[in-house]
Amino acid sequence: MQWCQYRDGQLLAEDVPLAELAAEFGTPTYVYSKAAILAAYGEFADAARGHDTLVCYALKANANLAVIELLARAGAGFDIVSIGELMRVQAAGGDPAKVVFSGVGKSKADIRAALAAGVRCFNVESEAELRRIDAIAGEMGRRAPVSLRVNPDVDAGTHPYISTGLRENKFGIAHERALAAFQFAASLEHLDVQGIDCHIGSQITEIAPFLAAVDKLLELATRVEAAGIALSHLDFGGGLGIDYQGEVPPSRRALLEAVFERLAAHPLGRRYAVMFEFGRAIVGNAGLLLTRIEYLKSTPVKQFAIVDAAMNDLLRPALYDAWHAVRPVVRRAEEPVVYDVVGPVCESGDWLARERSLSVVVGDLLAIESAGAYAMVMSSNYNARPRAAEVLVDGDRALLVRERETPESLYALERRLPPPG
Ligand code: LLP
Repeated sequence: MQWCQYRDGQLLAEDVPLAELAAEFGTPTYVYSKAAILAAYGEFADAARGHDTLVCYALKANANLAVIELLARAGAGFDIVSIGELMRVQAAGGDPAKVVFSGVGKSKADIRAALAAGVRCFNVESEAELRRIDAIAGEMGRRAPVSLRVNPDVDAGTHPYISTGLRENKFGIAHERALAAFQFAASLEHLDVQGIDCHIGSQITEIAPFLAAVDKLLELATRVEAAGIALSHLDFGGGLGIDYQGEVPPSRRALLEAVFERLAAHPLGRRYAVMFEFGRAIVGNAGLLLTRIEYLKSTPVKQFAIVDAAMNDLLRPALYDAWHAVRPVVRRAEEPVVYDVVGPVCESGDWLARERSLSVVVGDLLAIESAGAYAMVMSSNYNARPRAAEVLVDGDRALLVRERETPESLYALERRLPPPG
């Protein structure tokens, strides 16, 4: 992560020493780089210039209002999956007309709110959902813009929990049933059928699966248009991977250019507006989790660095066996020792990194990298642990963008029993 480098043996976030952030805001704390977020989005935006393209940011990766606001000001659209995410976009000053609404289980309240707000499009995942949106749009005296999410059955080669474009996934409408679904959608009075949508998975590090999806969508678009249903856009979802452990994904520019080139080679391809829904590739490497070592514990077979962050702050290692780089905030000259970095939660699955060679002492700070995406948003209060603070760094300034939760706030919504008797 370029924005996070050592200077005189001290790790900095942009121009702010991480040790200063720990002193000011405590630990654990998520630290985000404004420059890194804007640079990542900017690469997509630059590549999209001159094309009729909306680059959406998938809020599920990191939904902090400050992050949303940065991206809204930079011109991004947004991909949401709940009314809560829609409200976050609105609270951060984002434009609902640039919002696409994804997700397999939209509730009636979700649909009503999104129609009232005037979202750009619903990405619909089933015939039942088409029926539901049509009925609600009818009640509200509106026409709902929809695109159908198809399952292109492309193997994106990622972790089974985060691959979404295979036949056995719950997502999308099977490719062979898609034409019938489009015909059904077009027959409903309150729907305005606009496009085809897909999302084939996450942390994809090759261009080929994206191009396979482009081909599948173009082939389907040809059949849909031949059936007399005019389309205006194709949405290729998100999924571009990042470097966690030396992976070399295509650059953001290379991916978009390859997609545009593939589209341009097809007779229909040039006619459509294009949308993307990237999350991880915009924020993943723009964040880290700052944590302090509480204990160094030695057992006959292993050395543990027990830190004050845990699986409730960063679930990815426990859930996906994910690898996050760990760097000490202060460089020491002593011989390194191989540690498992673990948290205080009462689960053996509570580990953040395994078998890392570190030269550290108790009280040292560690930066757990690539924690800008799917970290805070997947956090929990397990073991009554307050959620960590979030800080946005901008040059030599640091802005608290979410306060650390307090223990009291965790039970504020709970009620005690009535008095006995
Ligand atoms: N669009 C749709 C419909 C999605 O389901 C997703 C992610 C995205 C866009 C954004 O994908 P991205 O560009 O971030 O890959 N918690 C997992 C990742 C789950 C992704 C789910 N869907 C992780 O920590 O790796």
